[in-house]
Amino acid sequence: MAKTAKLAKRDFGSFHASNVQELLNLSEEEYEPPAFPDGLEIPSFTAESIEFGSKFRDDHTLLEKSCTFLNHGAFGGVLKETLEYAQKWQRYTERQPLRFFDRELLPHLAYVTRRLANFIGCHPKDLLLMNNATTAINTVVHSIPLEKGDVIYCLSVTYGAVKKLLKWRCQQKGAIYHEENISFPLAGPNCILDLVTKTLKPGTKLAVFDHIPSNTPFLLPVAELTKICQDRNIPILIDGAHALGSVNLQLDLFSPDFYVSNCHKWFCCPKGSAFMYVKEGRQSQIRPLIVSHGFDSGFNSEFIWTGLHDYSPFLAIHVMINFWDVIGKERILSYMYDLRRKACELLVNEWNTGMLVPEKLQGSMGLVQLPPSLSQTLDVVDYSAAEQIQNTLYHKFNIEVPVKAIQGKLFVRISAHLYNSIDEYSKLAKAVLDLLPNCKK
Ligand SMILES: Cc1ncc(COP(=O)(O)O)c(C=O)c1O
Repeated sequence: MAKTAKLAKRDFGSFHASNVQELLNLSEEEYEPPAFPDGLEIPSFTAESIEFGSKFRDDHTLLEKSCTFLNHGAFGGVLKETLEYAQKWQRYTERQPLRFFDRELLPHLAYVTRRLANFIGCHPKDLLLMNNATTAINTVVHSIPLEKGDVIYCLSVTYGAVKKLLKWRCQQKGAIYHEENISFPLAGPNCILDLVTKTLKPGTKLAVFDHIPSNTPFLLPVAELTKICQDRNIPILIDGAHALGSVNLQLDLFSPDFYVSNCHKWFCCPKGSAFMYVKEGRQSQIRPLIVSHGFDSGFNSEFIWTGLHDYSPFLAIHVMINFWDVIGKERILSYMYDLRRKACELLVNEWNTGMLVPEKLQGSMGLVQLPPSLSQTLDVVDYSAAEQIQNTLYHKFNIEVPVKAIQGKLFVRISAHLYNSIDEYSKLAKAVLDLLPNCKK
């Protein structure tokens, strides 16, 4: 890993953002990674030493022992090793800031971009590192030329902040915001595909879909949605904020126009790491929100430097790629999906309720209905009632789990990550039963 790169022999004082294009275009045979400073070798793992559940939580996260943390979906949670690695880069940076920013950073960003591209199945020149999904989505939406009467399409399950962005952009340009409603319970993926096939009008300027919606998590059939859009020559933007680290993401299997994901959520990198994939034919349209030194020097160069900030979260992506490579996608995803399924079954049985979407559409998050008698004490079942229950679970039991009001019913949205174990969901089940009005305390 710590091989001296061909480029490391250059004078990096003259290394410009435009050189990034070259580094991303080199074939695997031509490319050599940059040298890593002493002490900054990327941590590696051994599959046998990793045990998921509470041991994983103790060994590899910073989560407080006392908290039952079932809300990874909100703000993620780092793997201890990724944060420590980013912090090492931060300290290294400050030992000689010029060396790091002027001479070393860009080749390292190119290297981590190449490894991430390989991991998610795309060409490195089609991939940009971004600070978060919000910035990436804003970049696409602001780059798409819109005129009066043009249409932007999305579904009711689209992330709230993204809906605000789409509405605002349409309002600015006199364009039409077209939102189609998804009602629950969902029978299967065909409900979504039929709805989109029927309602997506030719000539639409952009169609936006979540890969896994935040409030009502389920796996959207993104490959089929991409095909529907591309058959109509409509650019598709997929918001996969929750996808990297919770699905086996292989972009070459469906090649959407735009795909965005966070690395700081299910992929457990430090906050401030995300990516955006842009299909080759769309790249000339997409310009950065932040104009800096790389402007007009090529697609990747325009985005690689967004002014002085902490770039260490990007460099920590290496650690998670090593982790996944060693442990294996199959083992990681099976643990999360099996645990989520068992947890849903447990809660449904304990509360005698049901789930919002069928099992086959669920990944590492699930929505389980709370016992209806919990709502009897409430005047209305709405956002603030849900929030009140969520806060009670936190304050009374130190359980962190989001409560959602959907179509007049209350649900918990559980997350299942590698550090979770089934007894945590049992604790949630009991805590909720304890809150019921007729519960004998
Ligand atoms: C579906 C979806 N899109 C976008 C975002 C925004 O992500 P970030 O805050 O990292 O930009 C989130 C955050 O949870 C999300 O769930």
